[in-house]
Amino acid sequence: MPGGGSGVRSNAAVLLLIASTVVMLSCNYGGEPIDVVDPATIPQTVAYHDTVRAIMNYYCTACHSPGSQVGTIKDYDYSTYNGVVAGYSGIEETVYAEQSMPPGAARRLTAREQALLQRWAKNGFPQ
Ligand code: HEC
Repeated sequence: MPGGGSGVRSNAAVLLLIASTVVMLSCNYGGEPIDVVDPATIPQTVAYHDTVRAIMNYYCTACHSPGSQVGTIKDYDYSTYNGVVAGYSGIEETVYAEQSMPPGAARRLTAREQALLQRWAKNGFPQ
């Protein structure tokens, strides 16, 4: 029957369109865009023990702590309070400015996590 073949082809084209739309939408999934954060949602007080330690443990200590398999890379130890305070300029340089840490394809800090660290520093690094 004439036209039967092109009907199958256009069904396939529609499916492909739907599939690629789903892929495109799912890329934007997962919360706030990485570069947008409302400062009003950042708490006035941010403490090391309840916020900063968890962020550093998630993103940094796998490579920057004496207990890690690779040791303490470049003397940055982000596994202790003193280490994070001493290495804060390194966070400013590699996380906020160059966006080079964590390296490679690893997940980067969200805008909110960066804003939390910045408020913590601005408040004088409360424990
Ligand atoms: C997968 C391992 C890994 C993780 C996770 C990681 N780093 Fe690094 N980091 C490295 C390596 C390797 C170097 C040394 C090579 C380089 O400078 O690129 C380095 C270097 C650095 C330096 C020194 C840069 C310089 O110019 O000397 C700083 C500061 C730093 N990292 C901060 C961080 C912070 C903050 C985090 C967490 C947000 C982090 N890193 C997460 C592997 C890692």
